[in-house]
Amino acid sequence: MIEQEADIVFNRMIARNTFLMALKSPEITSLARPGQFVMVRVSKSADPLLRRPFSICGTRGGDCFMILYRVVGVGTAILRNAGKGDRLSVLGPLGRPFDFSEKGKTSFLVAGGIGIAPLLFLAGVMDPGECMLLAGYGTSAEVVPVEQVGLSQENLLIATDDGTLGHKGVVTDLLEGQLGKWRRGRPVLFACGPLPMLKRVAAMSFERELECQVSVETAMACGIGACQGCAVRASSRETQPYLQVCRHGPVFSIRSLDWKAL
Ligand SMILES: Cc1cc2nc3c(=O)[nH]c(=O)nc-3n(C[C@H](O)[C@H](O)[C@H](O)COP(=O)(O)OP(=O)(O)OC[C@H]3O[C@@H](n4cnc5c(N)ncnc54)[C@H](O)[C@@H]3O)c2cc1C
Ligand code: FES
Repeated sequence: MIEQEADIVFNRMIARNTFLMALKSPEITSLARPGQFVMVRVSKSADPLLRRPFSICGTRGGDCFMILYRVVGVGTAILRNAGKGDRLSVLGPLGRPFDFSEKGKTSFLVAGGIGIAPLLFLAGVMDPGECMLLAGYGTSAEVVPVEQVGLSQENLLIATDDGTLGHKGVVTDLLEGQLGKWRRGRPVLFACGPLPMLKRVAAMSFERELECQVSVETAMACGIGACQGCAVRASSRETQPYLQVCRHGPVFSIRSLDWKAL
């Protein structure tokens, strides 16, 4: 884990309310694995005091890592106004990454809204022939152009709630459709997005006895296992009743979590 001041290389709006920022840090970049995150101090002043967590959504040229963020409150509103030449204090890479060591299986990457961030990084390191990215948004204006992080549109399916792009409906409809017609062994699922979406993906995985890892988002104060602010209930197969999202996650097997308590 590294704490340092990183130069902003760019910070640009790529979809409605959604920004892609590249930060220069050869050290964090070389250690970063898909699913990990950084804690960013968005302001030099004491307000807001707490760092904000953001998934690493990719790397560029060996010395930069990228974050993709949606403006939702005080911290992200400050972040949107930062630009090239500014520096931000970052701590990372943090947390447990996705485990995609199993070869020869197709992976479905299921993203809800800004939950696409860690899955972009994952898709970028996977064999394109072995993964499909399913992404759901409210409307077409929110759709993240994946080529901005070096991915192709191939193997990408989009759903929008209002039907302005791709399938009209939610992303789990797309997953249901794909799993329904899947005849090439057992796929592995990776998901990140709002809790109702994760619950649906987990339920579909349990029903079909598929491996599934989810990246979970909770409020975080420290990001390094010191405050207990991010604890979630563990399933009975774990040895402890609670798991810290920042330290034991943010990526969990669905079998590690108590879905009724989430
Ligand atoms: C491991 C992890 C990875 C994350 N990765 C990303 C990412 O790649 N891109 C991204 O845009 N966001 C990501 N988030 C969420 C991001 O940290 C919050 O959106 C951000 O901290 C909000 O800061 P703010 O000061 O703008 O909002 P605040 O002013 O603090 O809050 C504004 C609103 O956002 C809600 N909010 C705050 N924190 C979270 C949270 N952690 N999850 C859900 N809602 C929250 C608040 O309840 C409130 O309604 C991640 C969170 C975690 C825990
Ligand atoms: S955020 Fe402090 S323990 Fe996880």
